Amino acid sequence: MDYDKTLPVAVETTAHAQQCQHVLRHNRARILLSALFVLAAVQCARLVSNLDVGSHTAVNVPLHAEEALSKCRLLQVPPGPSPAFNSRTQSDRFVPGTKATLITNATIWTGGADGLEVVNGDILLDGGIIKRIGDVGSDLLAQHADIARVDAKGQWVSPGIVDLHSHLGVDNVPELRGASDTNSHKGPVLPWLRALDGLNTRDEAYKLSVAGGVTTSLVLPGSANAIGGQGAIIKLRHTADRAPTGMLLENPYERNTSVYDPSVNFRFRQMKHACGENPDRVYSSTRMDILWAFREGYEHARKLKVAQDDYCEKATRGDWVGLGDYPEDLQWEALVDVLRGRVKVHTHCYETVDLDDLVRVTNEFQFSIAAFHHAHETYLVPDTLKSAYGGAPAAALFATKARYKRESFRGSEFAPRILAENDIRVVMKSDHPVLDSRFLLGEAQQAYYYGLPHNLALASITTTPAGVLGQDHRIGYVKEGHDADIVLWDSHPLALGATPQQVWIDGIPQLSSPHTITKPSAFQHVPKVPNFDDEAKETLEYDGLPPLEPKKSVSSTVVFANVSSVLMRSPESPHGVSEIASAQSDGALFAVVRGGRLVCVDSPTSECVQSALSDDEAGVELVDLEGGSISPGLTTVGSPLGLGEIFSEASTQDGTPADSLSSSIPSLAGGSNALIRAVDGLSFSTRHALLAYRSGVTTGIVAPNTGGFLVGLNTAFATGAKHKLDDGAIVQSAGAVHVSIHPAGTPSVSTQIAALRYLLLNQTEGEAGKWFEKIRKGESPLVINAENADIIATLISLKYEVEETLTLDTPLKFTILGGREAHLLAKRIGEAGIGVVFRQLRPFPKEWEARRILPGLPLSEKSQVIALLEHNVTLGIGTDIAERARNTRFDIAWAAIESDGLISREQAVALGSTNVERLLGIERNADEVELVATHGEDLLNYGKVVCVVSPGRGLVDLL
Ligand SMILES: *[C@@H]1O[C@H](CO)[C@@H](O)[C@H](O)[C@H]1NC(C)=O
Ligand SMILES: *[C@@H]1O[C@H](CO)[C@@H](O)[C@H](O)[C@H]1NC(C)=O
Ligand SMILES: *[C@@H]1O[C@H](CO)[C@@H](O)[C@H](O)[C@H]1NC(C)=O
Ligand SMILES: *[C@@H]1O[C@H](CO)[C@@H](O)[C@H](O)[C@H]1NC(C)=O
Repeated sequence: MDYDKTLPVAVETTAHAQQCQHVLRHNRARILLSALFVLAAVQCARLVSNLDVGSHTAVNVPLHAEEALSKCRLLQVPPGPSPAFNSRTQSDRFVPGTKATLITNATIWTGGADGLEVVNGDILLDGGIIKRIGDVGSDLLAQHADIARVDAKGQWVSPGIVDLHSHLGVDNVPELRGASDTNSHKGPVLPWLRALDGLNTRDEAYKLSVAGGVTTSLVLPGSANAIGGQGAIIKLRHTADRAPTGMLLENPYERNTSVYDPSVNFRFRQMKHACGENPDRVYSSTRMDILWAFREGYEHARKLKVAQDDYCEKATRGDWVGLGDYPEDLQWEALVDVLRGRVKVHTHCYETVDLDDLVRVTNEFQFSIAAFHHAHETYLVPDTLKSAYGGAPAAALFATKARYKRESFRGSEFAPRILAENDIRVVMKSDHPVLDSRFLLGEAQQAYYYGLPHNLALASITTTPAGVLGQDHRIGYVKEGHDADIVLWDSHPLALGATPQQVWIDGIPQLSSPHTITKPSAFQHVPKVPNFDDEAKETLEYDGLPPLEPKKSVSSTVVFANVSSVLMRSPESPHGVSEIASAQSDGALFAVVRGGRLVCVDSPTSECVQSALSDDEAGVELVDLEGGSISPGLTTVGSPLGLGEIFSEASTQDGTPADSLSSSIPSLAGGSNALIRAVDGLSFSTRHALLAYRSGVTTGIVAPNTGGFLVGLNTAFATGAKHKLDDGAIVQSAGAVHVSIHPAGTPSVSTQIAALRYLLLNQTEGEAGKWFEKIRKGESPLVINAENADIIATLISLKYEVEETLTLDTPLKFTILGGREAHLLAKRIGEAGIGVVFRQLRPFPKEWEARRILPGLPLSEKSQVIALLEHNVTLGIGTDIAERARNTRFDIAWAAIESDGLISREQAVALGSTNVERLLGIERNADEVELVATHGEDLLNYGKVVCVVSPGRGLVDLL
C-alpha cells in the first residue's frame, strides 16, 4: 500500500476530502483531543487546499484509511455461505440451456438423518440445483415444457461422491515428466502455493472418476512439505471455459465482487499440511526439525495476525497515531487465515507421534485441523484427536491399503468402525492416483464390510467429506436447494460392483451413452456383512498388530453345518473348477473333513455325517457356516507378495535382482547364464501374506522383483506357512521364467526384444539355457510382463518367428502378465494361443504404455475380461499391489458381476486360481489344494472366511 505513513490531516474538511472525512466523522471527539498533531497537511492538503487548518484539531490519518478499515472489516466476516445462499433458485454454476430433469421412482439415499433417511419418489433437477424431492407436483412440472425424464425403476440414487483427498489434475495420467505438479521442493513451509496454479484440465482420469460417481474432489498439493500449500475444490465436469478456474466449486480467489463479495461471506479455503516421513525425507530432517518448521511458520503467522488485530483495533477507534500501513504479507496471508478459522486444514499424518505433535501445535497456536489424512493410527488414539484445538479432526482413510510404509504398518481395516464408535467422523478417500478415485465407492464398501455401519459408510464419501470441506450447504446431500450432483446406481451402492447408470453434475448428465446392465434384485438391498467384533477388539488389544497366524483345529474331524454349496477343483471340468454340491431349499447340507480331507457332503441325517458327528472321544469340531460355502483356495500373482513386508523399506524385502541386460549378474552368482530364483528370496509370515490367507488366498506365485529385463524364475508358496521348511510351504519351487518388456528403460524396447529373440533362439548355456530349452519344447510357459499393445504385437510376431525358424512341433507357450492394452489385440492373442494375467482387474491408465485401457461399465459395453474371453484367451486375474492380494475374492466376484451372467461362479474362481497357476507354470494335484470355508455368504460375496482345509498338511486351520 502506498499511503503516506505520517500524513497529517486537518480536521475540518470540505467535500473534496471525502477519504479523510469518512474516517474522521466517527472519531471527532477523540480527534479534537489530539491537539498535539496539528501539522500542515502534505498530500491531503492538496485535496483540501481550502481548509481552515485550525490550530487546535488535526490527526494522522492515512490517505488510504478507508481501504485499511475495509480490510479490518473483512477480518470480521465469518467463513461459510452467505445468509442468502439457501434461498437461491439457481446455481452459480448453472449452464444456460441445461434442460430440467425429472428422475422418477427413485430410492433416494439423501444423506439426511445421519445417513439413515431414505425417500422413495421423484427428483426434479433444474437451474443446476435439486428443485424438488418426493412428489413433484404437476404444477411444478407444467413450468417445464422441455424436460428430460429418467425412470429410475426403483433403483438407488445417492449424492455425488465427494473425494476429500485427490491429486487429480496435479498428478496427471498418463504420467509424463511434464505433468506432475504435486510437490514443490522449495522449502518445508509454503502456505502461499496454490494447487489451482498447477491444475491441469488434460488429466485422462477426470472422465474415469466421474464414471465412478465422483462429482467433487479436493485437489491437494503433495506431502513433501510440512505446509505444502492450498488445495482446490473442483467439480469434475467439463466446463464451457475449458479452464481450471471454471472447475472451482466456490472460487475463493474470485475478484469480481458481484460474483463473490467477501464483505458478505468468506469462502473457506483448504490447506495441506503433512507430518512424519514424507517431509522428513524430502528435507533430510527429523520429526523434530519438521515440527519446528511448523511452529516457526505459525509463529510468523501469529505475529502478523496480532499486528493486524492491533492495527484494526486502533484504526477502528480512530487512533491512527504511528499506525502506518495495514500489516499484510501475500506469502503469509493464507496461514494467518488458518488462525482466523477461515481455512480448512488437511493434515497428512499417520503415526501416533505425529498426530500428537500436530495436536500440540493446534493448541499452541489455536487453530483447528479439519481432517487427518491417511491417519493410519488415529483409531488407536481417539482421545488425542479429541484434545485437538477446536475439536477432533475427521479421519480420512484407505480401507485396506496399509503396510506400504513403516508409518502405515499398524493400519487396520477396522479403523473406520473403531473411529466411528469413538464419535470421530470417518471419511474414505482415494489419494488419487494412489487409488483410482473412480473406485472410491469400493473403499466405502470395504469399510462397511469390516464393520462401519452402512449409513456412515455412505456418508464417508458424501455428506461427511462435504461437511469437512465446509461445503455441506451445497454438496454431499440429495436435498432441495443443493447442487444437482447425484448418481443413479445399478444396485445398492454398498453392493459389490455397484456402478453408476448416470451421473449428474450441476444438473448436467455426464455419461453420454452409458452402458448398463440389470442386476439381480438381491443387489438392490443393503448387503449382509459379517461380524468382526472380536477381530476389532483384538486389534486394539495388540495396539494395531494382532497375531494373524491361524490356529490348528484340535480335532482331526471337522463337520461343517449348513453349507450352501461346495466348489472343488476338478481337472476334467471346463474351467478346472466345478460345483459338487449345493443345498436345495428342502434340506441342509453338511460337509465332513477328516485329516484335512473332505470325505463327504451330504444331508445331516446321512450315514457319513452321522458317523462323523458321533465320532470318537477325540471330539469333533462342528463349524456352523450358516449358509456359507466351501470353495477352492485362491492363488495370487503379480505383486511382490512373498518377497518382503514393507516395500518402501529395503531392509524388509528381497530387493532388486541383478539383470544381465542392463548391468550384469555377478560371475559369483552365475554370470549372464544364471537365472535368479524367487524361491531363494521368500519371506514367510508377513502380514500381507497372512491377511491374504485369512481372505481365502492360500497360494502365492511370485517372481523376483522386477526392475530389469530378465526377471528370473517364479515360485509358488503357501501364504499361511510359518517358514520355508514348514509342511507344504513351497508349493513348487520354480514354474516359469519371467521377462519384463517396458519402455523408458535402458536399454530400448527394441534391445529388450532382441535379447528375448536371442534367448529363445540361441540360449543353451547354464540355468537360462536349461529353462529356455524347456520353453522351446513347449514344456514351460514364458511369462512376459508387458502392458503395451505395440509390445504385445511384437511378442506375437516373435512367437511365430521363433516357431518357424526352429520349426517347432509344439507351439511356444506365452503368458502376458499385465496386459492393460491386450484388449486391443484380443483376436490376435486368442489366435496365437497366448494367455493373459491381468495385474489390474479395473485398469487405470497410469503409464503412457498402458493408456489405452478398456474401462468397462458404464464407459464401455465390455470389460477387458470379456473382451479377451470372447476370443477364448486363457485368462487369470492377479494384482499389482501386495496388500490387495486379500481382495482377490472381491475382484473375481466383481468380474463375474460385471459380465452380466457370462462368467459363472466356477469360472470366476478359475480366473483367480487354476488359470493363474496354469499360465504361470505351476502344476498341482487338485486333491492337494486347500479348501476355504466361509460363514454367512460365499467367498464371492460378503461371507467371512472362517476355516482353511489343508489336505497337504492334513489339518484344518481355524481363523
Ligand atoms: C418403481 O419401480 C419398481 C421396480 O421396477 C416397480 O415395481 C414399481 O411399480 C415402480 N413404481 C412406480 C410408482 O412406478
Ligand atoms: C462480474 O460478474 C458479473 C456477473 O457474472 C458480470 O455480469 C460482470 O460482467 C463481471 N464484471 C467483470 C468486471 O468481469
Ligand atoms: C541364433 O539362432 C538362429 C537360428 O538357429 C541362427 O540363425 C543365428 O545365427 C543364431 N545367432 C547367434 C548369435 O548365434
Ligand atoms: C471359442 O471357443 C468356443 C468353444 O470351443 C468356440 O465355439 C468359439 O468359436 C471360439 N471362439 C473363438 C473366437 O475362437
